[in-house]
Amino acid sequence: HELDLKLEMLEKGGYDHFMLKEIYEQPRSVRDCMRGRIYPQQGLVQLGGIKEYTEKLKNIDRIIIVACGTSWHAGLVGEYLIEEYARVSVEVEYASEFRYRNPIITEKDLVIAISQSGETADTMAAIELAKEKGATIFGICNVVGASIPRTTHAGVYTHAGPEIGVASTKAFTAQVTVLTLMAFYIAQQRGTITQSKLVEYLTELNEIPNLVEIALKSNDHVKKIAARFKDSTNCLFLGRGSSFPVALEGALKLKEISYIHAEGYPAAEMKHGPIALIDDEMPVVFIATKHSSYEKVISNIQEVKARKGHVIAIVTEGDTDVRAMADYVIEIPQTAEAFVPLLATIPLQLLAYHIAVMRGCNVDQPRNLAKSVTVE
Ligand code: G6P
Repeated sequence: HELDLKLEMLEKGGYDHFMLKEIYEQPRSVRDCMRGRIYPQQGLVQLGGIKEYTEKLKNIDRIIIVACGTSWHAGLVGEYLIEEYARVSVEVEYASEFRYRNPIITEKDLVIAISQSGETADTMAAIELAKEKGATIFGICNVVGASIPRTTHAGVYTHAGPEIGVASTKAFTAQVTVLTLMAFYIAQQRGTITQSKLVEYLTELNEIPNLVEIALKSNDHVKKIAARFKDSTNCLFLGRGSSFPVALEGALKLKEISYIHAEGYPAAEMKHGPIALIDDEMPVVFIATKHSSYEKVISNIQEVKARKGHVIAIVTEGDTDVRAMADYVIEIPQTAEAFVPLLATIPLQLLAYHIAVMRGCNVDQPRNLAKSVTVE
């Protein structure tokens, strides 16, 4: 038994939990995921796993992303990126809904199935259905040789390495990285992005692993914020654009491991419901980086403050405007809007982690949840 304990300590690499270890592995896992796939100076993305389908990519009408849980959130980030850069319309579907509603699928559709485990039953069934209807299926999986990557026509592995914590962390950022690469790859094939823009973006993307490392330095500060809010019963996460799925993922992490009721919303939808919940007890986490909807998010923050809610804001480093109105700010490095999800996710993972630890929860194996859901 003692030997087992020692072995487990060793496996956790000195961290108290697998989740924390996996959060800290992200600079490396994101880098591994991009390795050999981007050539910044040449403005080139190479994805060997889908190379044979390059011609097909030029003629697709639409992309349907199917996934569950955290992988579905990654899919939503992918929707923003693919539509923005590759100009193909994207729909993101819960695999469980898609498979049971006689969806319209044609041979000109590309279906992208996202799954960490590669074994999720609903995602698997969604793939089989789309395959029967003649669509081309790509997979984005982490576990090499799992059922999903064996069923798809082609795919790109995330290479995040084994993820043990039930709450997905490094697999999520790796999925987002692959989707970012795919967005640029498809854009490159379809000619919707200029070569000089590609050089610019890929150069910046190449720096993201270093910036993830910097984002992790917020850990001690996030821990103090966690101590302040650990006894909350509710928490709201708000963001706009591709930070909206980041808000969903932040809320999911918190509810999964700390059992605090948490919801993610597009910031602008706050007025259609969640605003009714805001009182002087309610923490509201904003993703408020200096990008296209900055001013609009600022007005949302003011609306929360006017109702005495507590604002925790993820901001771009050096920000002063949000700092002046928020109760707590967590800085992340400056980057292009396209790459914000890869950085803004980090402090949200840490926040959920520390709150759960402080509440005495079983962080790596939360109650009622399974790492891989192979039944309906
Ligand atoms: C379970 C896991 C989640 C995961 C989801 C989808 O609910 O606990 O972390 O996001 O399944 O799993 P997949 O392996 O398909 O990504």
